[in-house]
Amino acid sequence: MPKITVVDFMRKVEKEFEVEKGTKLLKALIDHGVDLVHTCGGNAKCTTCRVNIDVGTPTKETQAQKDLFAKKVKQGLPQFGAPRMFLSCQIIVENDMMVSPSERFNHVIHDSVGRDTGDEITPDPVWVVLERE
Ligand code: FES
Repeated sequence: MPKITVVDFMRKVEKEFEVEKGTKLLKALIDHGVDLVHTCGGNAKCTTCRVNIDVGTPTKETQAQKDLFAKKVKQGLPQFGAPRMFLSCQIIVENDMMVSPSERFNHVIHDSVGRDTGDEITPDPVWVVLERE
């Protein structure tokens, strides 16, 4: 089974666990008690579930994530073009990964820090080759 290593912004290991191949990354993180915001519940709308994936970086992304990140870059937020930033709700775990969540419950204030998320990626994923560099 793939191993997920969760690190903080200093790359200090916080948690390690294994998940079934094919698990949605956001679901895996929530189920293992990882502190991260996921305001829209995993629908590629809010970007709060974003993570940096430094090891095991996917080679594909969903069209929903690609469109949302392109919109953010156009709005003057170039960080959304970073090659290792992903929405954890739009990622399927296929191999070992090192993941660093961006927005944590313990240092943000949200009306809704996270709705329930299901096992499936929503909206229905259309996979495209990752083209960010
Ligand atoms: S974009 Fe909102 S939870 Fe992933």
